[in-house]
Amino acid sequence: MKKILLIGNGAREHAIALSLKKSPQKIELATFAASVNPGIKELSSEYQVGELKNNTQIASFATEQKVDWAIVGPEAPLAQGIVDVLSQVNIPAIGPAKKLAQIETSKSFTRELMNEYKIAGLPEFTAFESIEGIEDWLQHLEESFVIKPDGLTGGKGVKVSGDHFKNMNEGMAIINELLNDGQKIVIEEKLIGQEFTLMSLADGQHLVHLPAAQDHKRALADDKGPNTGGMGSYSCADFSLPFLEPEDINMAQEINESTALALKNKFGIGYKGVLYGGFIVTKNGVKLIEYNARFGDPEAMNIFSLLKSDFVEICEAIINGNLDKVKVEFENLASVCKYAVPEGYPDEPVKDQKINVSRVNKNKVDIYYAAVDQKQDGLYLTGSRAIALVGKHQDLYQAEKIVEEEIKKIKGPVVHREDIGTKELIEKRVKVMEEVRS
Ligand code: GLY
Repeated sequence: MKKILLIGNGAREHAIALSLKKSPQKIELATFAASVNPGIKELSSEYQVGELKNNTQIASFATEQKVDWAIVGPEAPLAQGIVDVLSQVNIPAIGPAKKLAQIETSKSFTRELMNEYKIAGLPEFTAFESIEGIEDWLQHLEESFVIKPDGLTGGKGVKVSGDHFKNMNEGMAIINELLNDGQKIVIEEKLIGQEFTLMSLADGQHLVHLPAAQDHKRALADDKGPNTGGMGSYSCADFSLPFLEPEDINMAQEINESTALALKNKFGIGYKGVLYGGFIVTKNGVKLIEYNARFGDPEAMNIFSLLKSDFVEICEAIINGNLDKVKVEFENLASVCKYAVPEGYPDEPVKDQKINVSRVNKNKVDIYYAAVDQKQDGLYLTGSRAIALVGKHQDLYQAEKIVEEEIKKIKGPVVHREDIGTKELIEKRVKVMEEVRS
C-alpha cells in the first residue's frame, strides 16, 4: 500500500487528509505535525509531533516511514526548503522548491518578478530597506497606500491606509517600526474593489484552475475588527463569484499562468504544487495582491468539500508532470465555510476551554478540526481557529443557512461570523463592485 507523508496540522490539512483517504486507491498516511489534530490523527497510521521548520526531523520521519511522496500543507516548511530536502532523499513532494516558494515568502520578489516578466495585474510598488525616498513615494501614491513586510506574517502583517491606520503620521509610525526592526518592506498603491482567491494546481508545466472563492479576513461581521487567519469563505456553483465577470476569472487564470511560466524561465525548474493567487477586481481590472505557495485556509475546505475526482491521482499527476491527463472535477454546488473560533480571537483568545461538537449533524455539513486538543474528557480550545464547517447546496444562500444552523450547535466559548455567505453581505459586495466599475 502507498504511504503518503502529510505535513501540517490545521483544518486545511484535515481536508487534505480526508480527500487522500477518500481515494479509491487505498493509502496510508504518515503525518508530521506541530500538534495533535484529532481529525488527522484518526486518519493516520503514524503521527509524529515535531517542529514544522525542522527539515532534518521531517526528512528522518519521511525516510523511516518509507513514504512514496509528500504533501506540504502550510507555508513554514516550504519557506525552509522542505521540498528540496525531501528531494535529496528521493521523496517527491506536492509543493514548490524553496526558490520558487519565494512567491509567498518575499513580497518584493513577487513584485520584481511580475515587473521583470511584464505580468499583468501589477500595482504600483517600491521596495524599501531604509527611510530614504519613502516620503516622496507616499506623496506619489497620494497618501493612499499599503505597507507590506517583505517576509511571512501569517496573513496579519499587511497594513492598509484608511483601514489599519488613519493618516500619514500613523502610517509613518508603522513604517519606522518595521524598518527599525531591520525588516524590508514593500509600499504599494491602495487598490479599491473586491478581493477573491483563484488557486491553480501546477505540475511544472500545466496548470489546472480551481473554483474561485472569497475569504473573510476580519474577525467581526461586516468586515470589522482585527485581521485573522480567515474566518470563513464561500464559492458558487458556477465556480465564479457574484461580483465577478467571466473576463475577471480569465484574467486571474492568465496571471497565474504567466507567473508559473515566469518562475520556470527564471529558475529553470517548474512550479509544482498549488499557486494561490489573492486577487482584487478594481475599476482598472484584476490586480494581484499576493501569492501563496499552498492551498488557502479556509478556501481549501471549499475546494475539498466539492472535489469529486481522486486526489491521490491528482497529486501523482502533479509529481509526474501530467496534470493535463487527469480529471479534476467538482460538484456543481455552492459551498460556505465558517470557522468557530475561541472568544477573544485573534488578540486574546480563550484557551484550554472545553467545546462540544457532538450535536453537529455530520450528514448535513463537513467538519474539519483545526486548533483543538483531544483530551480524555473531550475537545479543548488551543487558542486559534478551532473548527471549520462547510455547507453545500445548489443555492449559495441555502448553503449558508445549512452551515449557520450547524455551527450554532457547537457548545463552548466559541464565536463565528454569522454574515459570511449571507444575501445581505453578498448583495452589498455586488453593489460596491457596481459602483467601483461605474
Ligand atoms: N486565506 C488566506 C490564506 O490562506 O493565507
